[in-house]
Amino acid sequence: MTMKFHHLISIIGFLLCNALSVWAKDEPPSDSRQIVSLGNDALSTMSQSQRQQLALQTINANFKNKDGIAIISLPESKLAELSEYMHKNHRRCGGYIWHNSLQQASDYVSKVHRHKQSNSVVVDYTIDNEATVNAMLTQIVSSNMASTVNAMGSYNNRYYSASSGVEASQWLKSYWEGLTSTRDDMSVELYQHDEWDQPSVIVTIEGDALADEVVVIGGHLDSINGQSANRETARAPGHDDNASGIAVITETLRAMVTSGYKPSRTVKIMGYAAEEVGLRGSGEIAADYRTNGIDVVGVAQFDMTGYKGTANTDIFFMTDYTNAEQNQFMIDLLEHYFSDINYGTDRCGYGCSDHASWHNEGFAASMPFESAFNDYNSDIHTAGDNHFDTEHATNFLKLAIAYVGEMAKGVVDADNYESRSTLQFRDGSAELEEGQTLSVVIQRQGLIDETASVNYQTIDGTATAGSDYEAASGTLSWDVNDGTDKTIEISALDLSEDKTFTIELSQVAGNGELGDRKVMLIQLVNNSISSVSFDQASVEIDEASTTTIRVQRSGDLDQVASVAYQAVNGTAIAGTDYEAVSGLLNWEVGNNDDKVIELKTFAVSEDKTFSIDLRNATGNAQPGEIMEVAVLIVDKSTAVEPEPDPEPENNSSSGGSMNWILLLPFVLGLLRRR
Ligand code: BES
Ligand code: ZN
Repeated sequence: MTMKFHHLISIIGFLLCNALSVWAKDEPPSDSRQIVSLGNDALSTMSQSQRQQLALQTINANFKNKDGIAIISLPESKLAELSEYMHKNHRRCGGYIWHNSLQQASDYVSKVHRHKQSNSVVVDYTIDNEATVNAMLTQIVSSNMASTVNAMGSYNNRYYSASSGVEASQWLKSYWEGLTSTRDDMSVELYQHDEWDQPSVIVTIEGDALADEVVVIGGHLDSINGQSANRETARAPGHDDNASGIAVITETLRAMVTSGYKPSRTVKIMGYAAEEVGLRGSGEIAADYRTNGIDVVGVAQFDMTGYKGTANTDIFFMTDYTNAEQNQFMIDLLEHYFSDINYGTDRCGYGCSDHASWHNEGFAASMPFESAFNDYNSDIHTAGDNHFDTEHATNFLKLAIAYVGEMAKGVVDADNYESRSTLQFRDGSAELEEGQTLSVVIQRQGLIDETASVNYQTIDGTATAGSDYEAASGTLSWDVNDGTDKTIEISALDLSEDKTFTIELSQVAGNGELGDRKVMLIQLVNNSISSVSFDQASVEIDEASTTTIRVQRSGDLDQVASVAYQAVNGTAIAGTDYEAVSGLLNWEVGNNDDKVIELKTFAVSEDKTFSIDLRNATGNAQPGEIMEVAVLIVDKSTAVEPEPDPEPENNSSSGGSMNWILLLPFVLGLLRRR
């Protein structure tokens, strides 16, 4: 939360009506030409004779951009007339702005280009669509929100420049596509950004009567671990910040679909990219919408809904960077529909989330928040942001549904609804090594308000069931509101070469429908491994004698194998205490005979040790259990009769075993090194 304390550069102030009228009323001292700016739309609709009447000259105007601002000049004596004209013909506050120079005018225009206020068409805030709102409210399945949060949190992080952040966006797109697949009037798009890879995701639900007016509900889909030096790899589950907001808008969408809601205004549901790095995704979208003159009549931001930080209060409306009338409307919605939801107001004190992007572009935005600012969830931006309070988030879900129903109006019609879920493999193909087992995942996506089932069956390819893999078949069933992944276990047997088979889905029932990945290819990998190992970890040889040790091969014999062996000095020195040995052991295809290594010792003055190592396994040989033998050369000449034990209770260290005790650290060390 370091950014929180950095108050972001505040928005450059805008001239209000009052200030404008003061300028407009000022009597010019002489009739010199004055520079003023006014809306392109006002200028473009002004008649030629009116322009002549005002002796108006255009300095800079782009009529294609009706939200843009034109710079004109006119005699000082005509300013009052212009003011009157603007007031009569364009009721919007503002009229025109006087500038003391052309430079100041163009500076102003470029500032306003970035921060124009009052783009929204004024919307009547009415509460008169109860039947529609209530129909959507009956569709709420709060537990779905936890599934959404868990799915979003399963990405290591959703950082804007991490590959997992891009994948999370793509997942959200397909998730929303699944929810809306039965609706022709709903579409899902990735909104690509030029400067970074993570896209924003936007669902559009086309309005009918007022399709050009847009109601936006949104929240950011990215997450961040603010404590880590490497944000692209650090864990950032972002459950509260802000999978919780995505869950709220997702459930609002689901309720819209399952109720058969058809809005009058167009509704857009937005998952913003790159919020955590400076409101960048929403900043680009809001600027784009303003530039393109899209009539956004209201924006609701859901950022952090799943942590109840303040006792006795459920929702706090942030009063800064938001629209006061719309905030009041949201409060009215709570009073009207959910009198048991307690609310308050607070301020972030800076542009703390995407509502500020919309506000800065002049759109009416609100930010209903989960706690008072000072009680915010201290786990956010850490690996510990992994909790989600479904009950608390449900308050926001209800508000979002009421907001959409009353802002976008429209009706519900059961005929608009058809339940359908897509059943398919998660992956199109997978590799499976011989002798191994693979968990194959089958997903259910889309609407889960009915049951669904599907059959699966393995089908031979070049691989044959029973000899190359274990045949599998059965039925997978999902209950109502079960959208979890199902897994089946597939086992590969022993192979002589690489082979393939498939698993196929068929016979869907309930609201299930087969998706594109209804066949999965399993590539069986013949990994042919044999292991080589000594048959014992230690051996004891009398001085001046010979013995043998053995090397074993086990596992797949369908390839050649070899391993080198080599004596390594310990206290015993090759050539002096024993005969140096080294060499290569080779096995042919199909052969697993034990290999024998002869050891020969010389006379020693005391017990000594050396070892034999196996190294450089080649062919299909892999290092096995015992790759080193500890060899003890026993000095027979110094073997003496046990001395009388001075301490009778300690009679264990006598005779030949005495040597072993002394050597124990060495032997243990060898064993540990393996
Ligand atoms: N969800 C937070 C905003 C927030 C946090 C609001 C705590 C109220 C209380 C958001 O994701 C965020 O982290 N915003 C940044 C600012 C942004 C401009 C990068 C922040 O608050 O530091
Ligand atoms: Zn955040």
